[in-house]
Order: sequence, then C-alpha cells, then structure tokens
Amino acid sequence: MTEWENRYYDSEKIKNTFERLDEWKRFEGSGYNKFVLELHLREVRRHVKKGQRVLDLGCGPGRFSMEMLKLGARVMLADISPKQLGIAKRKIEKAKLGKGVEGYHVLDATNMPEIDDSQYDLVVAYGGLLSFVANKRHDAIKEIRRVLKPRGHLLAEVMCQYGVFREVLVEAPEMFKEPAKYNFWEVLETGEQPWSKFWALHFYTADEFNVFLADNEFAVKELFSMPSIFYAHKEPFGKIIRSKKAMESVYRIEEHVRDKPGIIDAGQYLIAYARKN
Ligand SMILES: C[S@@+](CC[C@H](N)C(=O)[O-])C[C@H]1O[C@@H](n2cnc3c(N)ncnc32)[C@H](O)[C@@H]1O
Repeated sequence: MTEWENRYYDSEKIKNTFERLDEWKRFEGSGYNKFVLELHLREVRRHVKKGQRVLDLGCGPGRFSMEMLKLGARVMLADISPKQLGIAKRKIEKAKLGKGVEGYHVLDATNMPEIDDSQYDLVVAYGGLLSFVANKRHDAIKEIRRVLKPRGHLLAEVMCQYGVFREVLVEAPEMFKEPAKYNFWEVLETGEQPWSKFWALHFYTADEFNVFLADNEFAVKELFSMPSIFYAHKEPFGKIIRSKKAMESVYRIEEHVRDKPGIIDAGQYLIAYARKN
C-alpha cells in the first residue's frame, strides 16, 4: 500500500467505524430527520420498480432496502460492515419482507468479485458510499458499472463539498475556531478529508460529480442536492412536521429549487440518477 492510499481509503478502518455505529438512528427522532428521511424515500419510490433486481450497496441497516422490498423489487443487500447487515436482516425478518431478498453480502464496494457482471437493473448507493471510498472512488464506480445490466441505472448519494460547512456551523460552531485542525481549507478547496477519527471522505461539487459519472460512461439524467434550500434549518421542523399542508409546501419548494445554480452546491448531499451507457 502506498503512503497516499494509507492516508485515504482503508477498508479495515471504515469497517471498524461502521461496526460501532447504529445507522438506523440516522433518521430517527427530530422533525428535521423525518423530513430528510421522507426526501430519500420519495426518490426510492420514484425510481424503484416492481420486479427489478436492485443492489443496495452500502445498505447499512437496510432502511431503504425495506422500502424497495415493499415496492416489489428483488434486493441484494451489500455492506462492508457485518454489524450493519445483521441489523438489516433482523429488521427485514421482523417486518416479514424477506421474500424479495436475494442475499446479504459482506463486501467492499471498491472490489466486488462476489458479484458477477451485468446483474442488476439498479444500484442504489445511498448515504455517501462514493464519498466514504475516498481516493478509491474510481474503483468503486467501475465496479458499479460492471455489475449493472446494459442500460441499468445508478441512484447515488454523495456529500457536498460546500454544503458541509452549514452543518458544521449548526452542529459544532466551535470547530470554526480551529479550521486547520479540522482540515477546513483542504475540504473547501479540494473536497479531500483525510482520515479523521472515523473516516476519510471525498466531498464533491455538483460539476465534479457530473464529470465523474460521465467519465465513467454514465448518462446523468438527474442531479440535485438533498436537502437543498432547507438544509440545516433544523429547529423550525419541530413546529410543522405534523402539518401535511406545511410539509407538502416544503417538499414542493425543495423539489423545485434543488437543481438550480446557487442552490445545488449548498445542500447536504448530491443525488444523481444516471444510466449506464
Ligand atoms: C451512512 S451509512 C448509509 C447506510 C444506508 N445506505 C442509508 O442510507 O441509510 C454508509 C454505509 O456504507 C457502508 N460502507 C462504507 N464503505 C463501504 C465500502 N467500501 N463497501 C461497502 N460498504 C461500505 C458502511 O458500512 C455503512 O453501512
């Protein structure tokens, strides 16, 4: 392993990080989290079709696999963390959704010999997989392309290079006092976050993510940020989350502006829906 690789992607370290986390909690609790969850579910409902073979790559605890199963897809769950896959299996069995499951694979998305070529209609890589693989993102996207059927689709979510600073301001404003310690300037200028306590990350700009997919022979059909205009505005959601009318207004505004210049790079995640050429 070269020093450069060591500095960035390390499969053991990323596995150990996710062995310690319960990713199910990511969307629990606050009204804001419910809003972010609903945005994600809407995209799954829009793109996943009954009977499709779907690879949920970096599936974590299976929250979105369960939605795909409810929609009638046949789902292969894959993750580097056995713990996350174990949570997913338990949740799926408890909800009696196991019929559509094709299997559970512990694997590394940067090299997937476990999966044959041209298998899936859709690969879903939600929750930042192509950010967590850092400098190995070129390997991961090639593997994703390989396991997709001809003209198969990818629904991928990565972390926004500029938007991330909005979250830091809300959640950990003290970090702004020591920008060098937290590697602010490298993230701001290059999107590279070398290993912290938890992970190495690559944050993307919208233009860069678009080029990355096109260079790997994907036709990008949709590209937008999510949440976009309401990202990091957490507290007000406690007051409106139970109002159907208010939330429909919120979703309509988000969906209208999320791909617009001036908004697209300021969200939390970038979502791409792309077809293998
Ligand atoms: C933030 S969680 C997202 C989980 C789920 N997709 C979601 O959106 O709720 C990221 C997941 O990616 C997995 N992961 C990270 N690097 C991976 C890799 N190289 N190969 C496979 N899975 C990986 C982690 O173990 C973790 O479960």
